Amino acid sequence: MLQQSILKMYHMLALVLCVSASEDFDWTKNDRRSFYYGTFPTGFSWGAGSSAYQTEGAWNIDGKGMSIWDSFVHKKGKIISNDTGDSSCEGYYKFKDDINLMKDMKLNHYRFSISWPRILPSGLKNEHINEKGIKYYNDLINMLLDNKITPIVTLYHWDLPQMLQEKYGGWQNVSMVNYFNDFANLCFERFGNRVKYWVTFNNPWSIAVEGYETGEHAPGLRIKGRGAYKAAHHIIKAHAKVWHTYDMQWRSKQKGLVGISLTAEWGEPVDITNQRDIEAAERYLQFYMGWFATPIFHGDYPQIMKDYIGRKSGQQGLGTSRLPVFSPQEKSYIKGTCDFLGLGHFTSRYITQKNYPSGLEDSYFSDRDLAELVDPQWPDPGSEWLYSVPWGFRRLLNFVKTQYGNPMIYITENGVSEKMLCTDLCDDWRMQYFKDYINEMLKAIKDGVNVKGYTAWSLLDNFEWDEGYSERFGLYYVDFRNKNKPRYPKASVQYYKRIISSNGFPNQREVESWKRKAIETCSSSNQLLAADPLIGHMEMVTEIVIPTVCTLCILLSAVFLMFLLRGRL
Ligand code: NOJ
Repeated sequence: MLQQSILKMYHMLALVLCVSASEDFDWTKNDRRSFYYGTFPTGFSWGAGSSAYQTEGAWNIDGKGMSIWDSFVHKKGKIISNDTGDSSCEGYYKFKDDINLMKDMKLNHYRFSISWPRILPSGLKNEHINEKGIKYYNDLINMLLDNKITPIVTLYHWDLPQMLQEKYGGWQNVSMVNYFNDFANLCFERFGNRVKYWVTFNNPWSIAVEGYETGEHAPGLRIKGRGAYKAAHHIIKAHAKVWHTYDMQWRSKQKGLVGISLTAEWGEPVDITNQRDIEAAERYLQFYMGWFATPIFHGDYPQIMKDYIGRKSGQQGLGTSRLPVFSPQEKSYIKGTCDFLGLGHFTSRYITQKNYPSGLEDSYFSDRDLAELVDPQWPDPGSEWLYSVPWGFRRLLNFVKTQYGNPMIYITENGVSEKMLCTDLCDDWRMQYFKDYINEMLKAIKDGVNVKGYTAWSLLDNFEWDEGYSERFGLYYVDFRNKNKPRYPKASVQYYKRIISSNGFPNQREVESWKRKAIETCSSSNQLLAADPLIGHMEMVTEIVIPTVCTLCILLSAVFLMFLLRGRL
């Protein structure tokens, strides 16, 4: 009893600290100095990430229900080359091999997500619990722990049960709050004795904007200027509810943490001496990360969002704002529902002021009154949107520190892609990207930002949503042409291993040798990969040709025997 109240008091204190007032971010201070040699604090956690739909495959196996992604990808024209995640990396079957890869890299943690319809096929807890799905995640968690790898588990990485979309309209409907809470509660009940880090939502910006505003992602709806705000409103409520459920029912027993993973790219004012550009950059960040982080840390939407969307709704002749409103009770319920902040970060933009006259086509994008620009000199090896801008990472981390009272941060995603056709495992650009981004994170820690762990995105090449398999983010290359989906290490595996074993960048001489050493190993992997189609053919010979020939032989012998016997009779 006493223990419980001490724990509660401690928690209240942590909350007060977590939601303490924000400081001002100094926009003018942008120090892009040279490389910093040094190491991370002891106990810093190194990991890699994945998500259920992107890697598991087995989309209709062992009682799994359909998710909105299963349904979306099977509609023609939604995904590049009409790719699907039906089998993807076959992670459902190959997780033991994958844990061995993690073990070899000496990862401290692995971030993965639980597929909601794999354990609740209709989405509803009171309808049917799929024990085979539960067993899969139990096996995965147990094997990770046996290998001393801490699981960081995301509850929602975009794969809503299709039934909930069809019956209720998915995140447009407030009933998702309770259904998601039931699902989360089941996960705490079944896995929480072993899982201590929970992420409620992955990148809610994407769920809301790409799912309900632009329609590029499942469920593919285009409810311009409203859909994203409504979805986000329900997601924030659902996050808060799940945090309270954990806090009330599980925290004292299980002693874990519940956070959310927000993706945020950095927005740098085009002209740092121009106040309008600074304000536009701030709006970019508030409409991106602040949309979710400000309610969670401070209890309500950023003032700038309320002002802009409210004003534009008025100009449209609407009586109320398109941005929904939290009641006073909801505000205090939502405020402080964060034990740690997960951050996904990949790239940056330059931002300048741009007016969008209201009434034309109102949308989330035009509500912000800004334009995004890029520097053509920024390297962009893979995805069209992903430019390597390492200094933006440190800026973002410092921004988070000042805005949200220096919360505990786990980097839940950071990485770079290459195009499908690239079969070169000597991924020099990725080593450079990791080196520079991780170094900027180290500088941010020296600035006083409270970063506790880093998750490279991603462990394996996988299904990159509407881009299908055309973009590869993996440390490991997956040969999707081969039905066994073999994994091959890219050079960056070796490089990341060195960062992990040195816990940072010990000194110039050593760090400079890492790339050379990594490149030495990848040429042999390149040869193996080149031989893969041959191996594939050989497998085909053993699996198809030999059994067919044998069956034919048996048949022929039988016929021959029949003739022989007939002749005798
Ligand atoms: C963020 C998403 O969470 C992840 O699923 C995706 O693969 C990466 N961005 C790269 O686009």
